[in-house]
Amino acid sequence: MFQSRDLFDFNKGPIENFLRLFDEHKKRSSIDPSVMTLSTVSKMGHPNARIVLLKHVEQDKFIFFTNYESTKGKELSLNPFAHLVFYWHEMYVQVRVEGEVTKTSRANSEAYFRTRPRLSQLGAVVSQQSEIIESYESLQKKLEIVAEKYHGQESIPCPEYWGGYQLFPQNIEFWFGVEGRLHQRYIYGRSGQKWLKMMKSP
Ligand SMILES: Cc1cc2nc3c(=O)[nH]c(=O)nc-3n(C[C@H](O)[C@H](O)[C@H](O)COP(=O)(O)O)c2cc1C
Repeated sequence: MFQSRDLFDFNKGPIENFLRLFDEHKKRSSIDPSVMTLSTVSKMGHPNARIVLLKHVEQDKFIFFTNYESTKGKELSLNPFAHLVFYWHEMYVQVRVEGEVTKTSRANSEAYFRTRPRLSQLGAVVSQQSEIIESYESLQKKLEIVAEKYHGQESIPCPEYWGGYQLFPQNIEFWFGVEGRLHQRYIYGRSGQKWLKMMKSP
């Protein structure tokens, strides 16, 4: 019987293990493995969590895209630390990634923006993410106006307030569910250039 734990090798680094499990989930499930919970912290120290999509893992950085002026963007500018949580149900695996977040380069944000479907690009232009709106209709109206403005124009410029963040992991935990038994938790903690490894009680 398939055991996701068998794909995991604690002698290898966390990114290699992450990518192997991520790819396996893609094969086994119709649910997108890049769906992750992103937690940030408000000025008051209150946690704030929402789903975003992981777009790349580059070297060992976890990259996602959003609006820099959104609630999460404002929170990250005040406190640039975040926590990501993945849960891959078919694999019975949870991965938690915690670390410091910085913006990706402008070139990187623009390059990714160009790959997005046109409607998503227009959505990014129109939506002042996290701001209170008058009504949904007012947003639709704005979309019509912006779509008209860019009609016939092939490329839509990436708004200044939209782009990527990269999370540089400090700690990564792999949790493997064990049916009716004790679950397994493997933790990597960064120490300079090295990863310290430990297990925790479930
Ligand atoms: C499946 C799914 C994927 C999402 N992906 C993103 C994303 O990649 N970037 C993003 O800004 N918001 C994404 N969202 C919307 C966020 O969950 C959230 O509503 C939005 O970013 C505003 O969050 P904030 O007000 O806390 O900043 C996604 C939501 C869902 C349910």
